[in-house]
Amino acid sequence: MQNAPKITVVAPDLDAIGSATRHLAVFVTGEGKLDKMGRRVNRVMKGALARFVESDVFGKMKEADSHTLSYPTGLDADGVVVIRLERRTKGALARKAGAAIGKALLQGDVWVLAGPMKGLDDVLQGASLRAYAFNDHKTGEDAASKRGDITVMTGSEVDADGIIAVTEGVWWTRDLVNEPSNVLTTTEFAKRLEGLEALGVKVEVLEEAELQELGMRTLLAVGEGSESPSKVVVMQWSGGGAEAPVALVGKGVVFDTGGISLKPAVGMEEMTMDMGGAGTVAGAMHTIAKRKAAANVVGLVGLVENMPDGRAQRPGDVVVSMKGDTVEVINTDAEGRLVLCDVLWYTQERFKPAAMIDLATLTGAIIIALGHENAGVFSNDDALSKAFLKAAEEEGEGAWRMPLAPAYDKLLKSRIADMKNIGGRPAGSVTAAQFLLRFVKDETPWIHLDIAGVASHSGETDLAPKGATGWGVRALNRLIADTYEV
Ligand code: BES
Ligand code: MN
Ligand code: ZN
Repeated sequence: MQNAPKITVVAPDLDAIGSATRHLAVFVTGEGKLDKMGRRVNRVMKGALARFVESDVFGKMKEADSHTLSYPTGLDADGVVVIRLERRTKGALARKAGAAIGKALLQGDVWVLAGPMKGLDDVLQGASLRAYAFNDHKTGEDAASKRGDITVMTGSEVDADGIIAVTEGVWWTRDLVNEPSNVLTTTEFAKRLEGLEALGVKVEVLEEAELQELGMRTLLAVGEGSESPSKVVVMQWSGGGAEAPVALVGKGVVFDTGGISLKPAVGMEEMTMDMGGAGTVAGAMHTIAKRKAAANVVGLVGLVENMPDGRAQRPGDVVVSMKGDTVEVINTDAEGRLVLCDVLWYTQERFKPAAMIDLATLTGAIIIALGHENAGVFSNDDALSKAFLKAAEEEGEGAWRMPLAPAYDKLLKSRIADMKNIGGRPAGSVTAAQFLLRFVKDETPWIHLDIAGVASHSGETDLAPKGATGWGVRALNRLIADTYEV
């Protein structure tokens, strides 16, 4: 796990500004107002900051945009990151403003000179999240991290521990999702999850023999073609009282070839991220435990690998789920739902959760529907769904409610078993969700998040470089904080 940038808060000291090295960040309002520290920077730079603020370049900058003045006269710093930000701006825009600081952090330390402003924690959160890089498999110069730490010169309070807890969780998710599948096998994944014990999380690893005994046949069937043993990992954070826990459930397919219903070669390498749901559960558990959340939260992940092999399950096989319902496996590439249905059932039988949220890179169809901007939100409970959408909105993590209805459920009818594992091309994400709904008890408020489009991006986003995003860790953490902590 990579360490998040440290955040040190110091009182404003105008005389120290000139000798700060690497990067300085200053904030300027849309009207071109500098705070006290900005005025000092300007004076030391012999008026160059004020000239920049009067220029067309600044004039064209929008709220939260930034521009770096390199090798400034009078300062020891390599650059001054000038950020346009109103003093009252909070939330997503403030985090986006912080991203410029995050990029500078990848080169070394940054001094953030912050006068009075409302969104300072958000700015620092954005900075910290954007300072991510995944260079574990590079050698030579590219391997060395030059990442620096943050010193904030301010008279305001900063929740450094809270910011770091969130960054660490998101970064861990990104590390897991970016990790290639020959490294992150089911065994290695389970081992990394055991690391949560250091934060006071109880971690259990259920091995194949126990899963067999529990009757998790649909989950085990997916992993039959792989040399990596299937596992279910149970993580328990007990920060609350006697109340039922919130359950987070993740699809952890460490690689998805499609199985006997083999995927085409082009793009198959992307399926290294098919454990994104499990990775998000891991990151959320980390953040929740690290900040010692006053709530009970359990995380369960199904870790399997979907491979074609002489022992792999075949199209047409009928498998009995832990619930007892039988499934005709029409397509072995619709494996995520086979993993989740057993883990969802086990979660409810064992924990009787107050709410259950699953995350899965479940369908390509959700990318057709929503692109990479929003995860699909499927739910049997309007209040829970509303609370989640609000948390996601506040964190700037795109999420869009999708329908569930008996009419879609009909598409899963099987000739010889209780259901098929696919419903055909129309509404592919909805029929996948309907499949899961059959394994959700009426009394369990439930959300299914299809994160196939948002777990990883081919380009950079506001708060992440290319690759894994860590989508969902912040929304889940906020949902727990706002709804389940008293
Ligand atoms: N892991 C895939 C879904 C996926 C696709 C995730 C693209 C990320 C990017 C899932 O297991 C899968 O293969 N789904 C099939 C279902 C189909 C066979 C009904 C799909 O979406 O094509
Ligand atoms: Mn698949
Ligand atoms: Zn898959």
